[in-house]
Amino acid sequence: MIIAPSLLAADPSCFGRDAARAERSGAEWLHLDIMDGHFVPNISFGPAVVRAVRPHFKGTLDVHLMCSKPEILLQSFVEAGADRITVHVELGEQVTPLLWKIRSLGRKVGLAVNPPTRVSEIRPYLDLVDLVLVMTVNPGFGGQPFIEECIPKVQQVAGWRRELGLKFRLEVDGGINDKTAAECARAGADTFVAGTSIFRHRSLGTAVRRMRKVAAAFAPVS
Ligand code: DX5
Ligand code: ZN
Repeated sequence: MIIAPSLLAADPSCFGRDAARAERSGAEWLHLDIMDGHFVPNISFGPAVVRAVRPHFKGTLDVHLMCSKPEILLQSFVEAGADRITVHVELGEQVTPLLWKIRSLGRKVGLAVNPPTRVSEIRPYLDLVDLVLVMTVNPGFGGQPFIEECIPKVQQVAGWRRELGLKFRLEVDGGINDKTAAECARAGADTFVAGTSIFRHRSLGTAVRRMRKVAAAFAPVS
């Protein structure tokens, strides 16, 4: 089980300090939500913030591009220190070239699917990715309520992974707390992005350990 605190919920005036706190918490990944104000109705941060937090987090930087034209950004995020880059299946024709481009840059490839998008849209790409991200809120803002209707999508993706003998990670993002992490783990998720529910705690370590324990307890026996 991997816990990925989302920097979106950290203190923007102290991203370096909060990335170091996430490092000390034992979180394996740090999730960075990149928003362009076009694909989603919000603007967050860009490669400069990835570069700034890179020295403070030795684990994996998991960059989630909620951007309409991600191809113009890929090189900058790679140079800034991104280890994994996820783009959205809603980008349609751009998806296949984007996945190959990320791979050609030597980074792990992720594909995200929004709540209103049918999960069948990602089926053609499953053998091209290292991660599938099932969004459990409509992207754009942290602190939103978890959308229960997304759980069957997690189950479906986990089923395809089993049937096809694939090894991609199954990540969920949005409204993830101990309770919803348990529900998603039971459905087959193994990677949990959590912003609000982690960063609101003084001790990130306690929050991360508890979420990992709960998720592991509910994970289906493989
Ligand atoms: C939505 C963002 C959020 C963020 C985590 O666009 O991707 O899901 O990572 O948000 P919360 O605060 O719900 O954990
Ligand atoms: Zn995200």
